[in-house]
Amino acid sequence: MKTLLKLLLAVCIFAAGIFTSRFLWPEKVASTAQAPVAKLFQGATKRSSGMNNTKEGKVIEVRNGESIQQAVTKAAPGDLIRVYPGTYKETVYIDKDGITIQGVIIKDEWPTLEGDKKLNDAFLYSGNNFTVENFRIQNFKGNGIMGQGGNNYVLRNNWIINAGVYGIFPEFGTNGLIEHNILTGIEDAAIYVGMCDNIDVRHNQVYGNVAGIEIENSRHALVEDNYTYDNAGGILAFITPGLPVKTAYDIIIRNNYVLNNNHVNFGAAGSIVSQLPAGSGVIVMAADDVIIENNFISGNNNSGITITDHKYGANLSNDPESDPNPDRIQILDNFMTDNGNKPIDRVKALMATQMSTKGPDILAVGGGSGSCIRDKNRYRSFGLDNYSQCMMASTDSIISYLLAKPLESPVVSGEMKGKMAFYGVCSGCHAFSVRMVGPPTITIQALYKDNPQGIADYINKPTHKRADYPEMPPQNYLTPETRVAVAKFMLSVTK
Ligand code: HEC
Repeated sequence: MKTLLKLLLAVCIFAAGIFTSRFLWPEKVASTAQAPVAKLFQGATKRSSGMNNTKEGKVIEVRNGESIQQAVTKAAPGDLIRVYPGTYKETVYIDKDGITIQGVIIKDEWPTLEGDKKLNDAFLYSGNNFTVENFRIQNFKGNGIMGQGGNNYVLRNNWIINAGVYGIFPEFGTNGLIEHNILTGIEDAAIYVGMCDNIDVRHNQVYGNVAGIEIENSRHALVEDNYTYDNAGGILAFITPGLPVKTAYDIIIRNNYVLNNNHVNFGAAGSIVSQLPAGSGVIVMAADDVIIENNFISGNNNSGITITDHKYGANLSNDPESDPNPDRIQILDNFMTDNGNKPIDRVKALMATQMSTKGPDILAVGGGSGSCIRDKNRYRSFGLDNYSQCMMASTDSIISYLLAKPLESPVVSGEMKGKMAFYGVCSGCHAFSVRMVGPPTITIQALYKDNPQGIADYINKPTHKRADYPEMPPQNYLTPETRVAVAKFMLSVTK
C-alpha cells in the first residue's frame, strides 16, 4: 500500500505543471487579497496545477427567477449549467456525476445563493467530477458547499459569507481542488477538508472565521498561497479522534500568509473548535509528516505555530485507534515576527519558565517524535528541545497533490449511498435520541419499523404532521433507489 502511494505521488509530481490556472478574482477583491500574496510569491501562479473537469455535454442556462435545482435534474453527466446573476433561494443537490455549475458574473453582478438564515446548505453534492464556481453564497445555516463522497471536484472562485458551520466542506472525497475562494463569518472552519485524500487548497482568502483552513483526518494535502487573517485560528492540521478515518499525514503548509488571527472564538459551545485559543496562527494536532515552509506568520497573539498532541487539546473523545501524537513534523524556513503578544494563561505559564513574558513563535507541547526544525534559534520557542535540525531544504519538487488522472468513478453500492445521504443530509436535522430540527431517529424507527418504503415515500413528499415542528423539506432530488437506501439506513442506525 505504501509503495503504491509513493508511486502515485511520483506520478503527480511529474504530471503537474502542465496545467495553467485561470485567475478569476473579482475586481473588488483583487485589491485586498491578491496584492500581498503576489508580492511575496512571485511566480506562484506559474506553479498552480489547476484542474478542470471536462464539459462535453450540453449547456443549460438558468436565469433569475428560475431554479438551479431544476437544471440539475434535467442535466446529464458532462453538462454545463450556467447561472446568470440574480438571487436564488434554494438548496441545490447534485447526486449525479460530471456536472459543472458555473456562475456568470456580469459587471460585478454575481449569481447569489441566499439562505435567509432559514436554509441549511447551498450546494450539497455527492456526484463525482463536480465543479462549482463563481457564486456568492450567503446566510445559510449549515454549509456553503458540502461534498459527501464525490471525487475529482473543483470548488473555485466562490464568495461565501455567513454560511453557517462550514463554508466549504468536502468530506470523503479524493482528488479535489479548492482555489480562489473568499470566506468569512463561518462558525467553525471556513475551509474544512474532512477525511479526504489528494487535495490542493490554494489562493483562498479566509478571514473573520473561527478556523480559517482545517485539514482533518486527511492525507496528501497541499495548503499553499492562502491568505488567512483575523480568524481565531489560521491554518489547522488535525487528527480529530472518534471519526471513521483515523489518520492525517503528508500535509504541506507553505507560502501562506497567516496574519493577526486574533478574532474572538465564536464557535458553538461544546464544539472542538470552540476550544481553540484565539490568537493561533498554525496548529498541528496529532497529524504526522506535516511540513510547514515559507509562510509569513505574524501578529498571532497566542502563538505563531502550535504543535500539540491530543492530551493538550481539550474536550476530545478517547479513541484508541488514532495515534494522539504529532510525529515527524518539519518546520522549514518561515518568516515569523511579532507573535505571542497576548498569550493565554497556560502558554504564559510555560513561557515564564524561560523568563519570557511574550508568547512564542513556535510552541510544541505533548508527545511526538522524529520532528525537526531549521535554525531553531531564529525563533522564540517553547518545547523544541527534542527537535533535530531538518535536512530537507524545501518542498519545491512537490507541485501539487492532485492526481495526474481523475479517479475512475467508483461503483458505490446502494447501501453506501444510503449511508452517505443519511450523514450528508438527514443527520443535519435528525439526531439519534434528541430533538433537533426534526424528531429523533429513534422516534422515527418506532414509527416505521420494517417499513423503509414508508419512509422513502414520506421524504419524497413530506406532509406536515407535527404542529410543534417545522415542515420537512422534500427530498425528491434523491433517486428512488437512494430514498429507499437512506430509509433502510435510518432504520439501522444505533447511535
Ligand atoms: C431541514 C431539516 C430536515 C432534513 C434535512 C430532514 N428532515 Fe426529516 N423531518 C424534519 C422535520 C422538521 C420533521 C417533522 C415534520 C412534521 O412532523 O411535520 C421530519 C420528519 C421526518 C420523518 C417522520 C415522518 C412521519 O411520518 O412522522 C421521517 C421518516 C424523516 N423526517 C426522514 C428523513 C430522512 C430520511 C431525511 C434525509 C434524507 C430527512 N428526514 C431529512 C426535518 C428534516
